[in-house]
Amino acid sequence: MYVTRTRLYEIDSLDPEPGIIALAAAAIRDGRLVAFPTETVYGLGADATDSDAVARIFAAKQRPFNDPIIVHIAMLRQLDQIAVDIPESARWLAENFWAGALTMVLQRHGYIPSNVSAGMPTVAVRMPSHPVAVALIMAAGVPIAAPSANLFSRPSATTAQHVMADLNGHVDIVLDGGATRIGLESTVIDLSGGVPTILRPGGISVEAIRAVLPTVQVVSRALQPDAHDARSPGEMIKHYAPSTPLKLYSGKVDGVLIAMRSEIASQHTDGRKVGVLTADEERDEFPDADEIVLLGSRNNLAEIGAGLFAHLRTMDQRRVDVMLIRGFGRVGLGAAIWDRLVRAAEGRIIEV
Ligand code: TXA
Ligand code: MG
Repeated sequence: MYVTRTRLYEIDSLDPEPGIIALAAAAIRDGRLVAFPTETVYGLGADATDSDAVARIFAAKQRPFNDPIIVHIAMLRQLDQIAVDIPESARWLAENFWAGALTMVLQRHGYIPSNVSAGMPTVAVRMPSHPVAVALIMAAGVPIAAPSANLFSRPSATTAQHVMADLNGHVDIVLDGGATRIGLESTVIDLSGGVPTILRPGGISVEAIRAVLPTVQVVSRALQPDAHDARSPGEMIKHYAPSTPLKLYSGKVDGVLIAMRSEIASQHTDGRKVGVLTADEERDEFPDADEIVLLGSRNNLAEIGAGLFAHLRTMDQRRVDVMLIRGFGRVGLGAAIWDRLVRAAEGRIIEV
């Protein structure tokens, strides 16, 4: 356990105050932990070249040591200090999707300590676009290792308040730049050898990547949720989980809504309270739900993705016995949303 006094600073998310950035950058250089906003989710950052600082990340998050961490850079030329044998495909992807929600797994440079990558010979790299993240990495002068800033197996943090709820007393500085725009983590693609493979769907859609890299494959853990993929040890099923059990429904919308209503009725005969997370258009479908949280329009997956983790946390606090939600397809951001919901449901999936 890493224990410290946490200082929280509000920061301008478009034009970050240099004084606050300088303070946070000094903490990074000093081996301390700084939580900061990115366009995807908040990261829990430390100097990626300092193995003791990286060890503090694992301790603060209570993260298993076999779960590797993403290294964040601000300029393309930092890439050559982090990875070696970089394939041409990585250059194309960088040109098309950086700065942004894409993480590439490459062969690790000796300059990056092995605990960043849980001892693996590879390293995951991302160049975020959020002005606070960019300013912090530039000012620190070192690449920043950062997992999502949540306790291990909790939903990722998309606001500074989520970071404080999980990590107050275990992170030195929290930069509050407001809610993150995408709200789902980056897409992780393995380019370390063999066929380029998407290990985690995320903020950049598989379709967009396929347009640039037609050979790309997808490891579909959603279809084999218990499969333990050695290439991405962090993507085990128990992840993003709220403490209240979540049931996830999949299938044609009409049938799914009927199944969810009958689940509410049957939970009620057992005297249990039911919370439903639903699209705005479907709010009137659940007159008997004890609690309802609206996710946004079902025609706007960017909106549903952006608020998903926050809404799971909100419903989790409402003291219901079970939460119900449905998937929103597998196309575009729907794939990332489905992936996160499968994990949050810990396998409780109802195919209608
Ligand atoms: O959007 C994001 O990616 C956020 C922000 C903060 O950048 N970060 C994030 O980190 O989601 P984390 O640690 O929660 O998820 C990183 C994922 C894990 O599933 C991990 O297994 C995978 O990336 N990963 C990291 N290094 C890897 C490596 N060398 N090989 C394979 N997978 C790796
Ligand atoms: Mg995470």
